[in-house]
Amino acid sequence: MTKKAFIFDLDGVIVDTAKYHFLAWQKIAAELGIEFTPEHNEELKGVSRVRSLDIILALGNIKATPEDKEKWLTQKNADYLSYIENMDESEILPGVINVLQFIKEKQQFIALGSASKNARPILEKVKILHLFDAIVDGNDVTNAKPDPEVFLRAAQLVNAKNEDAIVFEDSVAGIQAANIANMISVGIGDDKILHEAKYNFKDFTFMDTSFIEALIN
Ligand code: BG6
Ligand code: MG
Repeated sequence: MTKKAFIFDLDGVIVDTAKYHFLAWQKIAAELGIEFTPEHNEELKGVSRVRSLDIILALGNIKATPEDKEKWLTQKNADYLSYIENMDESEILPGVINVLQFIKEKQQFIALGSASKNARPILEKVKILHLFDAIVDGNDVTNAKPDPEVFLRAAQLVNAKNEDAIVFEDSVAGIQAANIANMISVGIGDDKILHEAKYNFKDFTFMDTSFIEALIN
């Protein structure tokens, strides 16, 4: 039987880092006098660091020089890194380990498809780097989600066809990217926000192993 490629997004899917990205951006927005709410934040999920800053600046109608932008991007990442500095396994989201282990037992491919340039150190901190057959992150791609590049490359790395790939995502942009790539999109989170996903689960504790089993067969 052809092996399937299970491609996981990182932030908000494997680990609860979406809150740290939000906090770090909120700090920048506050300094710039821009109101930045959790609703605004949905638009930033899955989106690259550079693009995220552009979205925030547009919210406040702020025109910035490349030097200013560079300064804020550096500040955002420094704040973010301080939040994740002491991260450990306890920050893996509920149910994730069970699903990863089940996929491993069934000898299917596990890949990462993340926009983050901090993906590898985070997987190391939470001690699951060894479970991945392939990792594609923000350092490897030029086009951000909803462009499907990150998922296409992940599938290529494990030699899987797009239609044999399943993508777990918490962001609208990521679900769109998976759909564009002709992969099976699985939303993790609010099904109203992620309504474009083929399947949806509030979190991995709601996902029975029979769901994974059915995708494999
Ligand atoms: C995505 C997050 O996974 O990575 C975004 O959902 C984040 O919020 C993006 O901006 C880039 O992450 P980083 O770690 O490279 O700034
Ligand atoms: Mg995410």
